[in-house]
Amino acid sequence: MKPNIGITQKELKKSTSLLNVLLSNEMTLYVKTRKFHWNIGGNSFMELHKLFEGQYNALEAIIDEVAERINKLGEKTIGTMKEFLDHTTLKESPNTYPNQKEMLAELLDNHEHIITEIRESLSVYEEEANDAGTTDFVTGIMQKHETMAWIIRRYLS
Ligand SMILES: [Fe+2]
Repeated sequence: MKPNIGITQKELKKSTSLLNVLLSNEMTLYVKTRKFHWNIGGNSFMELHKLFEGQYNALEAIIDEVAERINKLGEKTIGTMKEFLDHTTLKESPNTYPNQKEMLAELLDNHEHIITEIRESLSVYEEEANDAGTTDFVTGIMQKHETMAWIIRRYLS
């Protein structure tokens, strides 16, 4: 049964297709943050091991919220690795094991990429999809990424 919430099906599709990309980016960054948690080495091993654990837990919570938002807008939520890889705009780096500084720089880049993409999508949610709820929702997610990016950036400055 489709939601009857004052948004047309065409408008809802605009929101859910953008949310599918966001979900896939969150999943890709989640997996990457776990990989770095597992493989971090060097002087600040335990501190960064724990920092990455805190961040992948935060990303896991975001993933669940985004996935359920898609469902609330009347669409089935994608949920396979292939679909996530098909939709993500982030890059993975198989068989590479960066050093501490490179790991932090890659995570920062990926958070900033997500922040920028959300910012660019705000006008689409608000104006083209007539979807104030999702506009507010993704703004909150952007702020969470801004906090995570700020913490990582401090290690690099
Ligand atoms: Fe662990």
